[in-house]
Amino acid sequence: MDKFVINGKNKLYGEVDISGAKNAAVAILPAVLLTRGECTIENIPDVQDINYILDVLSLLGAKVERLNRNTVRIDASGKINTVADYEILNHMRASYYIVGALLGRFGKAEVSMPGGCNFGERPVDLHKKGFEAMGAKVSVSGVFKAEAEHLRGANIYLDTVSVGATINIMIAAVLADGMTVIENVAREPHIVDVANFLNAMGGDIKGAGTDVIRINGVKELKDSITYTLIPDQIEAGTFMVAAAAAGGNVLIKNVIPKHLEAISAKLEEMHIEVQEFSDSIRIISSGITDKINLKALPYPGFPTDMQPIAVALLTTARGTSMVTEGVWESRFQYVDELRRMGAHITVNGRMAVIEGVESLTGATVNATDLRAGAAMVVAALMADGCTTVRSIKYIDRGYEHFEEKLRALGADIQRVSDPYEC
Ligand code: EPZ
Repeated sequence: MDKFVINGKNKLYGEVDISGAKNAAVAILPAVLLTRGECTIENIPDVQDINYILDVLSLLGAKVERLNRNTVRIDASGKINTVADYEILNHMRASYYIVGALLGRFGKAEVSMPGGCNFGERPVDLHKKGFEAMGAKVSVSGVFKAEAEHLRGANIYLDTVSVGATINIMIAAVLADGMTVIENVAREPHIVDVANFLNAMGGDIKGAGTDVIRINGVKELKDSITYTLIPDQIEAGTFMVAAAAAGGNVLIKNVIPKHLEAISAKLEEMHIEVQEFSDSIRIISSGITDKINLKALPYPGFPTDMQPIAVALLTTARGTSMVTEGVWESRFQYVDELRRMGAHITVNGRMAVIEGVESLTGATVNATDLRAGAAMVVAALMADGCTTVRSIKYIDRGYEHFEEKLRALGADIQRVSDPYEC
């Protein structure tokens, strides 16, 4: 197992290129199973979660070919297995998209599902409700099983705004008979990207990016398409916050500034300079920031996946900040790790109160999940002395060449193998 060893207090300067959106890729790759044709997907991030999905697609019978590090060609014209009970699925929350795709094309799917994750339960009741409304019989235990003779269009209201349920129902509905209308849907940029991909394949989807999506079922999809993923909103936000935290002057390239508005607005409130260009954002920071209050909400609100990273930054802001988590039940477990570095944080339910301290101090901390791991790295960049971040397998799941990108900006960060961690 690897760990990061980071010496703090180096300012960041230069340019960084943002990779393709991981959370769009984990949906678009399974959605390729809808077609008998061949799909070439460009701007795929080279991260562990994507390797898992590509392995599952191969195991199911699709022909997967990596044309280069960020481009993959998938041909699902051969025999495809509708049962996926592979060990590898235990590592992947997003395995539920395979259910939507197999159900949509073959009318049946059986996919083993991981349990809860490091920030609590991850229910799939809304996915189930959607598939059932479309005429499927669904059971969910350790295995997510769905079967339908004819998947038919339906009106579905999501009781909670869910990214996963929105995408999964949309994927299943592409080839269903008639019109599916999903109300109270999530509006994240990657939802629009998945809808654009499905439309490029020949689907008929309208309304993605608003709170009602209409999917008019089509009979068949195209034989061959090439699609390029949007840039990763959260990776871009992470580099924005890293630059703000360490101080310096960083141009973050290949981004869609519109997707980053909530993050830019909060950084400006902390008195960080944010310059927006057509496809890049520059952050200019002295490393000194001011307190803010923020609430993590579904898009266009401040992204929950940026919440731990923002909290890391606020640990040294002048004054006391309040951060409320409005999406997940319990997403503050990581604060114990920040406390090891000297942060003053108290948590009460879904709210954290962060009293800014002069400086953090290097310590050994754990990455408790993907975004908490990125938060530890941001904290380490600001800290006095040396910080060791353990369990970086979580960071590797979602950030492409994280330490190399940070090092190129001037961070003192090394990947070291840790023989004592299993
Ligand atoms: C996606 O998870 C992302 N993952 C998460 O990012 C992100 O935190 C989350 O959306 C919210 O933005 C991927 O895209 C792979 P949800 P998802 O369904 O789709 C409740 C990362 O770090 N809910 O939008 O699983 C749920 O409990 C990951 O990249 C139900 O009640 O999240 C939560 O409170 C971590 N029933 C809320 O909805 C359901 O059936 C939002 O969850 C589904 C969800």
